[in-house]
Amino acid sequence: MLQLREVVAAYGPIVALHGVSLEVPKGSIVAVLGANGAGKTSTLRAISGLLRPRSGSIEFEGQRIDRLSAEQIVSLGMSHIPEGRQLFSELTVLENLRLGAYSRFTGLVRSIGEYRWRKQDFEDALKQVYEYFPILAERKNQIAGTLSGGEQQMLAIARGLMGNPRLCLLDEPSMGLAPMVTREIFQIIKTINRTQGVTILLVEQNANLALEIAHYGYVLETGRIALADTSENLRKSEAVRRSYLGY
Ligand SMILES: Nc1ncnc2c1ncn2[C@@H]1O[C@H](COP(=O)(O)OP(=O)(O)O)[C@@H](O)[C@H]1O
Ligand SMILES: [Mg+2]
Repeated sequence: MLQLREVVAAYGPIVALHGVSLEVPKGSIVAVLGANGAGKTSTLRAISGLLRPRSGSIEFEGQRIDRLSAEQIVSLGMSHIPEGRQLFSELTVLENLRLGAYSRFTGLVRSIGEYRWRKQDFEDALKQVYEYFPILAERKNQIAGTLSGGEQQMLAIARGLMGNPRLCLLDEPSMGLAPMVTREIFQIIKTINRTQGVTILLVEQNANLALEIAHYGYVLETGRIALADTSENLRKSEAVRRSYLGY
């Protein structure tokens, strides 16, 4: 579904990715692991069009996307749930979800039929995310900034799902959260993948938890892929655990 070949990306003189190749099969959960500064966020930014690669190629469902704008890439069915949630903290839960749905459609509404169809589509998406995250339904009129860290992460994921993506890029959903809350969120990610067939590229420093739900894993080290294997093999290998996963 997604294929990166030898992607090089930089911030001015600072090269963050030195030729990253990875593959995300349709329907899978793929984890990208690595220490702080390894290039995980840059990898996601390159995919979603926020950081233009210097060289290499990125294909999404068979189409080259590495020269498209972030807006064009979103409209192809990809959603990027950024590091640090990036919610509109002064808006309510429901308002944040509405904003997530805006990426779903482009162009004018030309008929009442189309208006009704879009409205229905929005309501279906809302119902779906409230099923995954019942707490958001209870708190739909609460100001997002007053939610707990875990609830804010749930809202960030839910907002990303409102655009009905086929591929979700998730950047460190566990950041700043207690292990129990993280586990709960990871279980929901697994459910979203299983029941809706949404493909997930999950970036995490918390390798242990990420490999529990992922099918495949890549380990990034200073902008290069150091290791790639099934989650099972990565978890089994004592050496891998000690040198790369830190547990
Ligand atoms: N906006 C930026 N400007 C300059 N350098 C950056 C910027 N963002 C990230 N970097 C650098 O790129 C490298 C990879 O960072 P990043 O992709 O954020 O890593 P990770 O998400 O794995 O922590 C690091 O050396 C980091 O300092
Ligand atoms: Mg990061």
